[in-house]
Amino acid sequence: MKSIFSFLIFAALIYACSSSNAETRATSSISDKAEDGEKIYKTYCVTCHGVNGDMGGSGAFDLTKSQLTLEERIKIISEGRNMMTPFKELLSKEKIKAVAEYIETLRTDQ
Ligand code: HEC
Repeated sequence: MKSIFSFLIFAALIYACSSSNAETRATSSISDKAEDGEKIYKTYCVTCHGVNGDMGGSGAFDLTKSQLTLEERIKIISEGRNMMTPFKELLSKEKIKAVAEYIETLRTDQ
C-alpha cells in the first residue's frame, strides 16, 4: 500500500513539472514582431550564419555585408540558394518576412 502511495506522489510530481513547462512555452510565444524575427534567426539561421551574421558556416554568406533588398532576401530565405536550404516549408510567409527584416539589423555597412 505504501508503495502505491509513493508512486502516486511521483506521478503527481511529473504531471506538475510537465504542465509548468507547457505554461512557459505558451508565454514565451507571445512577443512582438521584431523579437520574433530575432528568435527565428537564432533558431534556424545561427547554425550557418552565426549570431552576428558573419560566421560563414557551410560557406554561408556574410550577412553583415549583404546588399539585397527585402524582397530578394525573402526570396532566398523561401527558395534557398546553393548550400542554403529553403525555408518556405518550415516557416510561414509572415515569419520569413520577420526574419528578413531582422537580418537587416545585422548589416554593418549601411
Ligand atoms: C545550411 C546552412 C544555412 C542555413 C541554416 C541558413 N543559411 Fe542563409 N545562406 C547559406 C549559404 C551557404 C548562403 C550562400 C548561398 C550561395 O552561395 O548562393 C546563404 C545566403 C543567405 C542570404 C543571401 C545573402 C546575400 O546577400 O546574397 C540570406 C539573405 C540568407 N542566407 C539568410 C538566411 C536566413 C534568414 C536563414 C534562417 C531562416 C538562413 N539564411 C539559414 C547557408 C545557410
